[in-house]
Amino acid sequence: MIGAGSSGIAAAKALHERGIPFACFEASDRVGGNWVFANKNGMSSAYRSLHINTSRERMEYSDFPMPRWYPDFPHHTHIAAYFDDYVEHFGLRERIELETRVERAERGPDGVWTIALDSGETRRFDALVVANGHHWDPRWPEPPFPGRFDGEQSHAHHYVDNEPFKGRRVLVVGIGNSAMDIAVESSFVAARTILSSRRGAHVLPKYLFGRPLDQIGVNRFTGATPWALRKRFLKAAYRLGVGRVEDYGLPRPDHDLGDAHPTISADFLNRLAHGEIAWRPNVAELLGDRVRFEDGSVEAIDAIVWCTGYKVTFPFFDPDFVAAPENDLPLFRRVFHPEIEGLFFVGLLQPLGAIMPLAEAQGQWIAAYLRGEYALPGRDALRADMERERRRMFARYVASKRHTMQVDFDSYLHELRRERRAGARRVREHGFRLPIPARARAAAGAGAA
Ligand SMILES: Cc1cc2nc3c(=O)[nH]c(=O)nc-3n(C[C@H](O)[C@H](O)[C@H](O)COP(=O)(O)OP(=O)(O)OC[C@H]3O[C@@H](n4cnc5c(N)ncnc54)[C@H](O)[C@@H]3O)c2cc1C
Ligand SMILES: NC(=O)c1ccc[n+]([C@@H]2O[C@H](COP(=O)([O-])OP(=O)(O)OC[C@H]3O[C@@H](n4cnc5c(N)ncnc54)[C@H](OP(=O)(O)O)[C@@H]3O)[C@@H](O)[C@H]2O)c1
Repeated sequence: MIGAGSSGIAAAKALHERGIPFACFEASDRVGGNWVFANKNGMSSAYRSLHINTSRERMEYSDFPMPRWYPDFPHHTHIAAYFDDYVEHFGLRERIELETRVERAERGPDGVWTIALDSGETRRFDALVVANGHHWDPRWPEPPFPGRFDGEQSHAHHYVDNEPFKGRRVLVVGIGNSAMDIAVESSFVAARTILSSRRGAHVLPKYLFGRPLDQIGVNRFTGATPWALRKRFLKAAYRLGVGRVEDYGLPRPDHDLGDAHPTISADFLNRLAHGEIAWRPNVAELLGDRVRFEDGSVEAIDAIVWCTGYKVTFPFFDPDFVAAPENDLPLFRRVFHPEIEGLFFVGLLQPLGAIMPLAEAQGQWIAAYLRGEYALPGRDALRADMERERRRMFARYVASKRHTMQVDFDSYLHELRRERRAGARRVREHGFRLPIPARARAAAGAGAA
């Protein structure tokens, strides 16, 4: 397994409790990935003030509740401590090899994976679980905007706090959650804060009617309820509780509520309404110490923060073997590689909701498969399923590199449970067999992993 962030540790626990031997390699000196502020691995995008935007009860693993004294939206220090406690509680600590970066992962013709580590050591395995995260490799605007900018430019990935913005004129580009948090923080110290975006967004509050928004109306039937019905309810609640973003000074979104990755902020619309943040359309041209926007307006700017998202990359794979051009890597239910046997991904999805419970379910699914308790559908059915999923996703969500692996939290879990039942039925019908023969140990000889 590559990575011991919140996805890797959930999958590690699933393999561990099913008695499946594994090693988990983690580049950092501790678990928790993105949630470790100033992580030694240099990959965390967390900033000093970061709080989760999916509520505690929607984010916690099913069998390890977050402490009830935690607030609904805890700080990153609480979240990192929670992941650390999880590893301790389930006895995973000694299964995770810290400060061990996977440099290369190759699959031989016999199906055995050779894993090259930064220590110079190589190890061999029968299957590979990739949980290396997808919010650490900054995506700068592609292609770059025309012109030249003489002030300071940074990407949200490198943002730490608003200290450098004091008294300056700051431009924040993008309208995802990084842009929300950074624009709000900037607005308290900067001389001027402008947020530029190429479309509008339904900015969701963290609370509505005194409850975390992501918990409203959620029950055990939610996953089976058609999205169209849930959307009607959500739209009505939003209209009542928030109103129209146009009335706060944002453009009318070109999409319906729920048809883009949620942009969540308790403060952004207030700061906009207070005039502490100004909205502008997309950048048209960089003019040295000024920026021209698509509406023709020009602003003097000292610093630009590009909150333009992240690239999905796997530096340990040969790009001709596995890559995600334009952030797109088609997988069966976001886990199984359709062509490469014994290759699984965990946490490689963007939910409307938190990633952790989904990563947990994915880990359990992989464990069931490796134990021979779940069988995949036949090749044609699997392909057809993937195509159906992709058609559905691309039809619903705004065309963007941030919507290439979008899932709906409750529907995903519901459909995964159904698929697991179908896979168990296939095992009963076709007979039990272990899907991946144990070859690595034999190939490596005595003493190998
Ligand atoms: C600012 C920010 C806020 C977010 N807030 C939320 C939120 O509120 N709720 C939510 O659900 N999601 C949120 N996310 C999404 C985020 O992706 C998840 O919270 C979570 O971090 C995903 O966990 P992960 O384990 O998949 O990836 P990561 O947390 O990125 O962990 C990946 C791990 O893999 C290790 N690794 C990578 N490559 C290698 C290698 N080659 N060898 C060995 N180890 C390697 C890394 O060191 C790291 O520990 C946020 C993202 C960002 C950027
Ligand atoms: N508090 C929190 O919990 C928190 C904070 C920050 C981030 N996050 C999470 O971290 C992940 C990444 O969020 P993010 O906001 O960094 O990235 P993101 O969600 O991918 O958003 C990127 C934004 O940049 C825009 N953009 C991309 N390329 C552009 C270009 N060339 N020109 C103009 N605009 C461009 C996108 O617009 P289009 O939509 O038009 O493509 C989008 O508005 C998400 O899962 C998010 O929820 C959470």
